[in-house]
Amino acid sequence: MADAQIRIVPSVLPADFARLGDECQALEKAGVDRIQWDVMDGNFVPNITMGPDIVAACRPLVGLGFEAHLMVSDPDPMLGRWVEAGCELVIVHAEACRHLHRTLSVIRDSGARAGVALNPATPLTAVEHVLDLVDLLLVMTVNPGFGGQHYLASMEPKLVAARAMLDRHAPAAELEVDGGIGPATIGAAAAAGARTFCAGSSLFADRDDLAGTVARLRSRAREALR
Ligand code: DX5
Repeated sequence: MADAQIRIVPSVLPADFARLGDECQALEKAGVDRIQWDVMDGNFVPNITMGPDIVAACRPLVGLGFEAHLMVSDPDPMLGRWVEAGCELVIVHAEACRHLHRTLSVIRDSGARAGVALNPATPLTAVEHVLDLVDLLLVMTVNPGFGGQHYLASMEPKLVAARAMLDRHAPAAELEVDGGIGPATIGAAAAAGARTFCAGSSLFADRDDLAGTVARLRSRAREALR
């Protein structure tokens, strides 16, 4: 579907943390579709980033949707705080949830859309029994924790299988890809079935031309679908 909805979702990980509000406004101006907040707890992944108060501070500055990518060991205690901070989408890692069905239910009950992320080594079967609760499936094409890593092309068969699984059991769910997405890799990820693309370092590579980079990413994805 050449005119499929292509969503470009920047990760704020490479953004200037001393000016996150300005950076969110610049991303909105550049024409992105949503903003992803990469939340890391130093336990599920080695890195540590931000809490909901940072997101809440930026919420009133832009009209864009916010998604929280929770790379944290136990997301349950703080689920509501991310929604209160202004995230319309909360993404948890299947590997971090002892009771994933309940966690996704709680996210939806709190009024947000529920997303589940899978690390490269995690099979799709980890989510096959909760697809009725999944609004977005995030397939990682890097091992999470840091930006600027190389795209794992070996995840493309997983993307193809994920799209087929969602088409059968959750056709309205978004398929997002995250990790090493840039002009050289977004086409292959799109051809494999992704339609939502989280990009960090490639998107901030030329801070003077964010809009141009967003447009290039979008057109590369569309070209792959022709
Ligand atoms: C996990 C993070 C990163 C980030 C994107 O480490 O989720 O994947 O969003 O970073 P880049 O686009 O630089 O790989």
